[in-house]
Amino acid sequence: MTRVAFIGAGARSVGHMMALSHLRDVEIVALADLDTARAEQTQGQANARRKADSPPIQAKIFADYRRMLDEAAPDCTYLVLPPYVHGQLDHDIIDYGKPVLFEKPVALDIALAREIADHIRQKGIVNAAGYQMRYSSAVQKPKAMLAGQTIGMAISVRLSGLPGTPWWRVQSKSGGMLVEQHTHAVDLMRYLCGEIESVYAVAANRFSQDVPELDIFDMNAVTVRFASGAPGIIGNSCAAPAGAAVFPPHLVHVVAQDMVLSVNTNKTVVHRAGAEPEEILPEQSDNYVMAKAFVEATRSGRQEGILSSFDDALKTLGVTLACQRSAEAGAPITMAEFM
Ligand SMILES: NC(=O)c1ccc[n+]([C@@H]2O[C@H](COP(=O)([O-])OP(=O)(O)OC[C@H]3O[C@@H](n4cnc5c(N)ncnc54)[C@H](O)[C@@H]3O)[C@@H](O)[C@H]2O)c1
Repeated sequence: MTRVAFIGAGARSVGHMMALSHLRDVEIVALADLDTARAEQTQGQANARRKADSPPIQAKIFADYRRMLDEAAPDCTYLVLPPYVHGQLDHDIIDYGKPVLFEKPVALDIALAREIADHIRQKGIVNAAGYQMRYSSAVQKPKAMLAGQTIGMAISVRLSGLPGTPWWRVQSKSGGMLVEQHTHAVDLMRYLCGEIESVYAVAANRFSQDVPELDIFDMNAVTVRFASGAPGIIGNSCAAPAGAAVFPPHLVHVVAQDMVLSVNTNKTVVHRAGAEPEEILPEQSDNYVMAKAFVEATRSGRQEGILSSFDDALKTLGVTLACQRSAEAGAPITMAEFM
């Protein structure tokens, strides 16, 4: 039996728990959350949505994660906290010495993220970051199709409404739209097209001046250059009228030599001249495949099978933080100087 714990048991943890309910010989033994009533509620929601014939989740709930680690002694931990909470807690969980899945974004500060990455390396623990889309076969197949192709350009645009999560609209708590949310698309761009070398962002608050507590940009327009020389475009808004999701979230278009790929975790479409568009659908849910890979890595003690490590997530964080810095400074930034 693999005994799993969570630190932070809010909205995102429900999805992880549902995914884990599809795996055999896995027990969620403990949840640590400052708000224990919220953790109870999350456990209830996950129980209502877990795989029908899986055993109920009956985790012990703790307010103090250190006590949880001592008493529950889990085999691995999911860290599913608001982005601004990272710091001492990450170091404590690494010192505990067992595998950790860190939700994205892995920090809000590049120096802190580097420190955490160094600590992980020193301790040699199995580690993963919550970029589940990499695990979808609707992403894996186009990635394989792109091998050996020259990339012309990559584009990702997301237009949607403001999430209800209270910390999301506060710059110092979420890092803003690109760092917290569009990070998935930036990560997919890196995964499919290689490293990003420089960014130039223009951003503004156009429609959200009267939204209480909001101090993030609600419009971002970024051009990037990949190390290959290919250009890329990233655009996003959390203030689209009526919260319309005009583009599927985290859709990435890749213009390659022989085809255009519109890549999304739930459906990829391949466009080729003179041919009907080809659809690639995922064989399994990305969250399920990620949970399986993390549990298998916990059991084997080996990093193979993890498609997004902390070190890799650090690079995606770097790109999104550099975009924020570029928008504030009104100047392009190279990743070499930023990192
Ligand atoms: N991979 C994805 O698709 C995806 C989707 C949604 C959210 N996320 C990420 O998951 C993380 C959590 O998001 P969420 O939507 O669940 O947030 P949330 O606000 O719903 O839940 C966070 C929980 O953490 C608890 N918490 C806060 N500080 C704590 C501390 N010091 N110790 C213990 N518990 C603490 C809160 O009480 C809350 O219950 C964020 O990093 C977010 O970016 C990822």
